[in-house]
Amino acid sequence: MVEQQFGIEKDTKVKTRLVRMDEQHIDAALVKEAGDVIKAGGLVAFPTETVYGLGGDALNPLSSAKIYSAKGRPSDNPLIVHIADMGALDAIVREIPDSAGKLADKFWPGPLTMILHKSEAVPYETTGGLDTVAVRMPVHGVARELIRAAGGYVAAPSANRSGRPSPTLAKYVIEDMDGRIEMIIDGGDVEIGLESTIVDLTAERPIILRPGYITRQMLEQVLSAVEEDSTIMRDDSGQAPKAPGMKYRHYAPKGDLTIVDGTAECVVEYINTRIAMHRNDNKRTGVIGTDASVKEYRADVCKSVGKRSDEEAIAKELYRVLRELDDENVEIIYAESFDTDGIGQAVMNRLLKAAGHKIIHV
Ligand code: TXA
Ligand code: MG
Repeated sequence: MVEQQFGIEKDTKVKTRLVRMDEQHIDAALVKEAGDVIKAGGLVAFPTETVYGLGGDALNPLSSAKIYSAKGRPSDNPLIVHIADMGALDAIVREIPDSAGKLADKFWPGPLTMILHKSEAVPYETTGGLDTVAVRMPVHGVARELIRAAGGYVAAPSANRSGRPSPTLAKYVIEDMDGRIEMIIDGGDVEIGLESTIVDLTAERPIILRPGYITRQMLEQVLSAVEEDSTIMRDDSGQAPKAPGMKYRHYAPKGDLTIVDGTAECVVEYINTRIAMHRNDNKRTGVIGTDASVKEYRADVCKSVGKRSDEEAIAKELYRVLRELDDENVEIIYAESFDTDGIGQAVMNRLLKAAGHKIIHV
């Protein structure tokens, strides 16, 4: 009891309240309660259009510390500050460059995060010690109302324990966060399923640090030239990614994951040969395939991420499939490779990271 009162004991359990609220049925009284939890320094997980976020007061250093502890995340990995209105931006950044104004006009609210120079209002605890701050204005109705109710600035990483895939359903938030945070808002499944695109506007040229639903081509329709961090699709050993969080082997399934790239027939044949071999070693195997191919595989657990031609659906299903394979305790996983058009680049970026860049061309 005493420990609970003072929040000293690391493993002290918090009673987590679970509420349901979707965009069509916003309950103002409940939103206010959730906002009050954040204002008082507590944590609330909530739905956004990308993945579920774990929200705390971005301007309160103690809240950021709590977020790191609930996630089991290193505190040099900065948090994204979520705002609900353009007017809120002024107070947290040193200046709003033209490029940011243009991108905000076109893509906010939405799945785009911009890195800008931070103002003194943002504590270093939130930015992992950096002089820059990541800012995003989500479009999800529940997220926006919650941000407003919480005072306008909500720091929110994805609501998973560090090293697990970002949650696309409230049940995964419950799995990872029950007993660690004050409240979880279940808003049903998310729309996109992969985290926002991050673009750094503090360098000479805009540079994408993390690919997402908003692609380079889309950004280049607004800003003439946009670069990409070289670590997005390659394992540039020795080269540190510019988004500190991208260096961690995120999204890592418990099983050892290898991507197999090639013609449909060769991929199935190669994977099935490997699976037969692992079976002789008594290893439990899993496959990530597509609707057309999944029945061809002989693994213990075969999962489809959907239709190969529907990259948006694949983006939405990928983290669910990775979690399900974890739950099945598979030891060896093979995944098909996917096109890198549109959001496909973000899919392959997350898959390559999950595989520690192990990809075989057959
Ligand atoms: O879609 C999203 O962005 C979700 C939802 C909840 O909004 N949030 C999310 O947050 O993905 P998180 O913490 O899981 O990922 C934030 C990424 C990390 O890779 C971090 O290193 C990078 O953003 N980041 C944050 N601030 C940064 C900064 N000032 N400079 C460079 N990278 C930064
Ligand atoms: Mg994350």
